[in-house]
Amino acid sequence: MLIARSIADLRQALASYRHPTFVPTMGNLHDGHIALVRQAKPLGDVTVASIFVNRLQFLPHEDFDSYPRTWEADCAQLQAAGCDVLFAPREADLYPQPQTFKVHPDAALADMLEGHFRPGFFTGVSTVVMKLFACVLGQTGGTAVFGKKDYQQLMVIRHMVQQFALPIEVVAGETCRAADGLALSSRNGYLSLEERQEAVALSQALKQLAQQWLNAAPNDRSAVEPRALDALRARGWAPDYLTVRRRADLLPATAADAAGSLVALGAARLGSTRLIDNLEF
Ligand code: PAF
Repeated sequence: MLIARSIADLRQALASYRHPTFVPTMGNLHDGHIALVRQAKPLGDVTVASIFVNRLQFLPHEDFDSYPRTWEADCAQLQAAGCDVLFAPREADLYPQPQTFKVHPDAALADMLEGHFRPGFFTGVSTVVMKLFACVLGQTGGTAVFGKKDYQQLMVIRHMVQQFALPIEVVAGETCRAADGLALSSRNGYLSLEERQEAVALSQALKQLAQQWLNAAPNDRSAVEPRALDALRARGWAPDYLTVRRRADLLPATAADAAGSLVALGAARLGSTRLIDNLEF
């Protein structure tokens, strides 16, 4: 695996390829990331992953400084998964000057859910992904693989690619889960042993939310989300949202929306760790 530290080195490494496939990450890789790399591999003629902890998508009180950086282990895992090129720019390479040009996604999509609780998050994500796309796929176009675990992020990126007519195909990867059902996430590493046992309650809450939404008469559906929030609070969580949305636009589901077109999304804090998950149904 070739490691490119600068944009110039990356472009040189990719010069002879026609269709790169790209998996952007912030490192601290787990099996979910590695599954995305394996999924990416047959989709092009060179597989590229990036590791870059993007300051622009963290709020001042969030975990940018403490975000786990596990370089050696990440490289070993990528190498084993058959990644060909790792792009790991230093901050001064990707942001040599303050990044004053930014990509501001449509507020209708980006200011709700995650964007409501983490203002500016999707501007930070869109801006860095646009820049990473320019570095990795700018010469050829190609394919980019994003996990469904970050459901709204995937949607924002899809819209960005479509609106800017980028020559990039966005492919979604399924969420990887631990044996008990907890969605794999770099932030799971913050959980204490006790919290780790409790953490599966978020995915269970989403399953129950989906089931109760389907079982409820249309007039009773407004009570389903508050009940789910209360149940999680009673277990000691501080939920930001647990909600049933339409997959197409992430707007609240209505009586007209049928099973098969919906997604239950949740974000909640357990101790000091904020976890997110979702379930299509
Ligand atoms: O999902 C992530 O890890 C990040 O948001 C991404 C897409 C790598 C941008 O920094």
